[in-house]
Amino acid sequence: MGSRRSLEGKIVLVTGATGALGRIVVRRLLDSGAVVAAAYRDEAKFQELQDFVGGVKDALIGFKTDVTSEAEVRQMVEGILGRYGRIDALLNLVGAYRGGADIAATSEDDWDFLLRTNLKSAFLCCRAVLPAMTKAGAGRIVCVAARPAVENKGRAKSGAYAVSKAGVVVLTETIAEETRKSGITANCIVPGTIDTPKNRTAIAGADPSKWADPEAIAEILLFLVSDAASVTSGAVIPVYGKS
Ligand SMILES: NC(=O)c1ccc[n+]([C@@H]2O[C@H](COP(=O)([O-])OP(=O)(O)OC[C@H]3O[C@@H](n4cnc5c(N)ncnc54)[C@H](OP(=O)(O)O)[C@@H]3O)[C@@H](O)[C@H]2O)c1
Repeated sequence: MGSRRSLEGKIVLVTGATGALGRIVVRRLLDSGAVVAAAYRDEAKFQELQDFVGGVKDALIGFKTDVTSEAEVRQMVEGILGRYGRIDALLNLVGAYRGGADIAATSEDDWDFLLRTNLKSAFLCCRAVLPAMTKAGAGRIVCVAARPAVENKGRAKSGAYAVSKAGVVVLTETIAEETRKSGITANCIVPGTIDTPKNRTAIAGADPSKWADPEAIAEILLFLVSDAASVTSGAVIPVYGKS
């Protein structure tokens, strides 16, 4: 899909752009002809992203934004709309994991952090882009949940994470219902373990060939933001690889 420049000229906002999945997705979007507005927190990581995609690109513009801050998200979206006049797609890739404790031992800090980072971030970004998409009568929203959001297995000792990602599923489905007649689609992918450098280090003894390849996940994301996916909204799509 990437080589066909199927997203020529589309304005795509990507949060979590400097992350393991984000950087692959940004490179694929640029290869497909999209203009990418990348939300990032850390200047050095944004520079690494620019290097990763092959040097400074006109089609890649960075917005230093904490996406858990309503004011910063509003400023970012106003900045993109001011510059390009529209946002064709939003990819909410920001997310974080903390676990290891039963609910009985989960700290308030971990609960708040996960709900804020995984769920509030998606809510704020969706809410900020929806008015412009509604006015345009078109738009693509894609969120990222995680397997424990939809399966009991994997929830024990990851309860706060599972709840936050289950919230992402319900948020996406709700937006899909609310925008059913508007030309906007909202879909959600559900990764199992992604084959990232961090997971290769953290999960000793595992077989990474069973994990989902980020390039393959990017392919699904690009399809969901493409014109070809106009009739699909409210989907919750497993991307588990061979696990
Ligand atoms: N990796 C997996 O196995 C796995 C499994 C299931 C689901 N997922 C989900 O898939 C998505 C991508 O995962 P990943 O492995 O690529 O994650 P990652 O490498 O940890 O990247 C997370 C990204 O989110 C950004 N971020 C975090 N908090 C932020 C905030 N408050 N404001 C702005 N940016 C923020 C990070 O920025 P910094 O670079 O500044 O930290 C980073 O760019 C996430 O939603 C994750 O929950 C991942």
